[in-house]
Amino acid sequence: MAEHNDFVVTPWEVSGEIDYEKLINDFGVDRITPELMKRLEGHTGTLHTLLRRGLFFAHRDLGWILDEYERGNPFYLYTGRGPSGHTHLGHLVPWMFTRWLQEKFGSKLLFQMTDDEKFLFNPGLSLEETNSFAYENALDVIALGFNPNKTEIFSDIDYCKTLYPLALGVAKKITYSTTKAVFGMRNDSNIGQIFFSSVQAVPAFLESVRQGRNIPCLIPHAIDQDPYFRVARDVLPRLGYFKPASIQGRFLPGLAEGGKMSASIPESAIFTTDTEKTAKKKVMNAFTGGQATVAEQKRLGANPDICPVYHYMTFLFEDDDTKLKEQYARCKAGELLCGEHKQILAEKVAAFLKSHQQKREKAKEKD
Ligand code: TYM
Repeated sequence: MAEHNDFVVTPWEVSGEIDYEKLINDFGVDRITPELMKRLEGHTGTLHTLLRRGLFFAHRDLGWILDEYERGNPFYLYTGRGPSGHTHLGHLVPWMFTRWLQEKFGSKLLFQMTDDEKFLFNPGLSLEETNSFAYENALDVIALGFNPNKTEIFSDIDYCKTLYPLALGVAKKITYSTTKAVFGMRNDSNIGQIFFSSVQAVPAFLESVRQGRNIPCLIPHAIDQDPYFRVARDVLPRLGYFKPASIQGRFLPGLAEGGKMSASIPESAIFTTDTEKTAKKKVMNAFTGGQATVAEQKRLGANPDICPVYHYMTFLFEDDDTKLKEQYARCKAGELLCGEHKQILAEKVAAFLKSHQQKREKAKEKD
């Protein structure tokens, strides 16, 4: 966990102005170097926008994953979702990246829906609710176009007969003092929470169990999930499995000031189920890096570095580096006014949602 005066990053809370340099140190992860990117590019042909722009920026053992791959020992992918509500655009970031990895490396993907986790960590949610959000969120995963022959999505509750015995093996190797140190568990934490980290470790070796031999596993996620896999990396070798590797991204900020994206503040995030009208309204009401008046903005320029509108373009909505650079420069120079910038983003978001929602509807026909 990382708790500083100005920001907090835990698997359950992300808030404040995140200092990613500090996180690299706190978590002890490695930066994705230009050399590593070159190596990846050797296999993928081009680099995904999120890598090129440094938005996937850290990893554990990515070099080893490529060593194994080059030796003819391919990896499988594992990622997931804690279904506490509808999917927002931030969740789509690591999933889109995972889809790209699947396509480029031909990997199998295990996708875990931790409906148990969200029940245990959210006092207001029943198991029925988290289980039903697991289904809703799975529609978004399917809509992103993963290879159906190589992708398995499961809910912990529904798949517990397979997961539980394996989680027990992991749990037996994790002490209470470890969960206190890594996850900040306290005496008043419910005991399900203390157990849960063993469940999130299971898909990191499930494919090895199934195939009866060790298979490398690569886990894409935003950096908040790293504590889970730090523990898994400690325990799995003691059970005879490989340490899982990971590739870690930054957070898409919220639309409100300070970048917080929160389910309890619906205006702060765009959900995949939002209507076009709602989504556009959220964009048009977003906080920006602009000045108080148009005249001031023309004179002083705006600050795209703190502006969610600009960040949404960077993460998801402007693939063309030249156009993005141009937007940045025009914002800074006071030429691109926030109203116009928001309008461009609102149109892009609406077009994305329209197409995504059609695919989401289609996904309902699948099992
Ligand atoms: P959850 O549901 O909090 O988040 C799902 C995935 O989205 C990432 N994420 C974000 N990425 C970019 N911008 C954001 N604003 C943003 N918010 C969340 C998370 O890092 C995560 O990758 N316990 C997990 C579920 C899980 C899982 C996994 C996640 C189970 N196994 C393996 C990753 C890998 C959870 O509650 O995720």
